[in-house]
Amino acid sequence: MILHRLLLALFLFIALASRAGAADTFDWRLPPRMPPPPVPTDNPMSASKVELGRRLFYDIRLSGPGCMSCATCDQQNRGFADDKRVPIGITGEHHHRNSMGLSIVAYFKTLTWANSLERHLELQLRRPLFRTKPVEMGSLGHEQAIVDLLSSNSVYRRLFEESFPETDGRIDFTGIGKAIAAFQRTLISARSPFDRYRYGGDASAITIAAKRGEKLFFGDTLKCAQCHQGVHFTDAASSTQYHNTGLYNVDGSGGLPARDQGLFDVTNKPEDMERFRTPSLRNIAVTAPYMHDGSIATLSKVIDHYAAGGRAAQSGMPSPLRSLHVTGFRLADNEKADLIAFLKSLTDPEFLNDPGLSSPFR
Ligand code: HEC
Repeated sequence: MILHRLLLALFLFIALASRAGAADTFDWRLPPRMPPPPVPTDNPMSASKVELGRRLFYDIRLSGPGCMSCATCDQQNRGFADDKRVPIGITGEHHHRNSMGLSIVAYFKTLTWANSLERHLELQLRRPLFRTKPVEMGSLGHEQAIVDLLSSNSVYRRLFEESFPETDGRIDFTGIGKAIAAFQRTLISARSPFDRYRYGGDASAITIAAKRGEKLFFGDTLKCAQCHQGVHFTDAASSTQYHNTGLYNVDGSGGLPARDQGLFDVTNKPEDMERFRTPSLRNIAVTAPYMHDGSIATLSKVIDHYAAGGRAAQSGMPSPLRSLHVTGFRLADNEKADLIAFLKSLTDPEFLNDPGLSSPFR
């Protein structure tokens, strides 16, 4: 019996080790200081799966009526966000939240603006595909037609076979989800001028103004790095904390416009009212407009919001629910320009133009 258990343990160890090995052999093409992101054991990375995911990400055949792809709202040159206040679905309905950039999405512990239950890229994409309130890609009810379309294409048949030998290349939404998740894990921006300066030893990669801005950003007065911390410029890679930055106070008690209460909508806990996940600031200069509802047009106005101690405080009604780190500060015009220069140094042109991440259909 003991021998039997030992053999079983050994077998499990070897099985797990070989899985981890498979993930390890994937070439992430990352700078040495950037750790590869976590990968679930039931969806190991492979070059063909990433290629398949890239095709699917850019393929309008994935939407119901066939005129919208993931990339319609997650555009590479905009850090995989878009330039709208809120995106518009295939039937013309407006989403209530701004498109989030995907620059380092693989590292986040939870996904989207404020949903602590959303943890798996493999499943998250079912929302834009299938949700009905509002309709986004409108694929609900068209699942079989979409699978048939993909199955009639020899490139897709080959890529599914190479990517999923365990199912003999079955084409279905489980495989579609796994492949798009694998592609999204490769959306890692780590070669901005700031990276070259801070981690690559290239002292001239960013301007003197940006260096002054870096000091402000990481300093105790502005406190930006309390939440936008570390190499990912967010605490969402190391924790599942959410924060209220004091944007709204419609009722004197810190309330938001009724359509969106932040994390509260998921947890129903009063302390979670208007709490959102900290977005990464990588490529932030190309993802305007800002915040969960796209309600701030420019970086300059985002800084005004924090300087006031939360936008609601600009009209004399600071939110009583705002984070202790959003207390307000005074910034001279030249300091504000320095801070913006620093934020712009996080723009990574190599990532935004990488042909390996762009549409294969061009
Ligand atoms: C208490 C934590 C916290 C602090 C401190 C903080 N932020 Fe934020 N930041 C957030 C959260 C959370 C959001 C999203 C809020 C929302 O959408 O309602 C955000 C949003 C942003 C955005 C918009 C991101 C996007 O993709 O739309 C920018 C830019 C930004 N912050 C910059 C800064 C700067 C600059 C500072 C310092 C002056 C700072 N933040 C301080 C947590 C914080």
